[in-house]
Amino acid sequence: MGKESLTIIDNRTGAKYELPIENGAIRAMDLRQIKVGEDDFGLLSYDPAFKNTASCQSSITYIDGDKGILHYRGYPIEQLAERATFLEVAYLILYGELPNQQQLDQWVFDITHHTLVHENLRIFLEGFRYDAHPMGILISSVAALSTFYPEARNIFDPESVELQTRRLVAKMPTIAAFAYRHRMGLRYSYPDNDLSYTGNFLNMMFKMTELKYKPNPILERALDVLWILHADHEQNCSTTVMRAVGSSHADPYVAVAAAAAALYGPLHGGANEAVLRMLREIGDTSNIPEFMESVKRGERRLMGFGHRVYKNYDPRARIIKEIAHQVFEVTGRNPMLDIALELEKIALNEDYFVKRRLYPNVDFYSGIIYQALGLPTSMFTVMFAIPRTVGWLAQWREMLQDPEQKIARPRQLYVGQGKREWIPIEERA
Ligand code: CMC
Repeated sequence: MGKESLTIIDNRTGAKYELPIENGAIRAMDLRQIKVGEDDFGLLSYDPAFKNTASCQSSITYIDGDKGILHYRGYPIEQLAERATFLEVAYLILYGELPNQQQLDQWVFDITHHTLVHENLRIFLEGFRYDAHPMGILISSVAALSTFYPEARNIFDPESVELQTRRLVAKMPTIAAFAYRHRMGLRYSYPDNDLSYTGNFLNMMFKMTELKYKPNPILERALDVLWILHADHEQNCSTTVMRAVGSSHADPYVAVAAAAAALYGPLHGGANEAVLRMLREIGDTSNIPEFMESVKRGERRLMGFGHRVYKNYDPRARIIKEIAHQVFEVTGRNPMLDIALELEKIALNEDYFVKRRLYPNVDFYSGIIYQALGLPTSMFTVMFAIPRTVGWLAQWREMLQDPEQKIARPRQLYVGQGKREWIPIEERA
């Protein structure tokens, strides 16, 4: 291999520059020295939607989109999904190493003992309309937590950062479940410290009149695996928002609220809800050919398909497909699965999808499982936001420790009007 550098000749001036290459990248700031004259600002790189721009160095999550590989802190997602619990993976993502037994026990104890929310937050929740979307409730309530913990703004106090991290990981399921029960008109079910993270979530969601809720162990484990798969995904849209908001030194509650808002959109975490709406609209496998034709005509997208990074397959989708079958043994088969399987089969053989390297992503099957668990579609993105909170926090903490990071402030290429004179209103066309 030759020298790790890039030689650029500016054809405007004939000047030659040598830029170092590090970790497969040049530094965009190195382009700034390329100028046509003294008062030239310097060359910028233009990259709408950050398609080819690394905004940070990170040691949390590794993805090889062409090979369909996903690692958290070096551990393959398949191994973690098979052997770990969600809270064990959360610890790994946040602290870089798998916890030993003592560390895990302490971590689980801490999270379990931060699950309650201030009663005023419950009252705040009651102010939402009966049919408020749970993502709207979640986003606003997490932002509201910022007012309960004003010390959270001390983002360079390690003790405070640890405390807010635990509070956020612990309280997201509680707020999510309360949002669901608000919408259903059900009395809130408070956390049960005897249960696991996911077992307790099922308790807060589905406990009715029984004195003690007993989660089904297969569903509890399925949820654990689903949440492991959703815990982090490097610099996606919502994580980029978490880092950008955090870069202004806002507190982690409002930054998580902003990240969750980004997740809400149908091109990101909102896709699982959109998949279910799409499957419902198709209604029957006999309607699939007509639906596919409209996708190929570019009139609509096949939701749950395609990914900015994965161009071979999404390894999370493969694991989720397996879990779906385990869940259906308990809940009964979701008829939507037949439509989804048929859509996948056709899409994987159609030129349109093959040529564009479009494969099922994490959201294609997750919604079908959530529906089988008895969740309304409006809760699907909430089910993504709970585990992703761990990734957002890990990325936020990493950013705060990174001496190269500053307030996020991209440049623009101004293509608007040049300077012009004010026109009085009577003279305007
Ligand atoms: N159905 C039909 N065509 C598609 C789809 C799709 N789901 N996704 C991409 N395409 C086409 C797109 O029209 C374009 O075609 P052409 O070159 O003829 O214009 C080509 O494929 C490339 O698409 P793109 O929009 O440039 O790709 P992107 O990397 O900007 O978008 C994506 C990635 C995930 C937003 C997109 O694939 C999509 O909209 N998928 C459906 C929504 C979805 O499932 N999102 C969940 C993503 S995974 C979880 C998460 O991130 O939260």
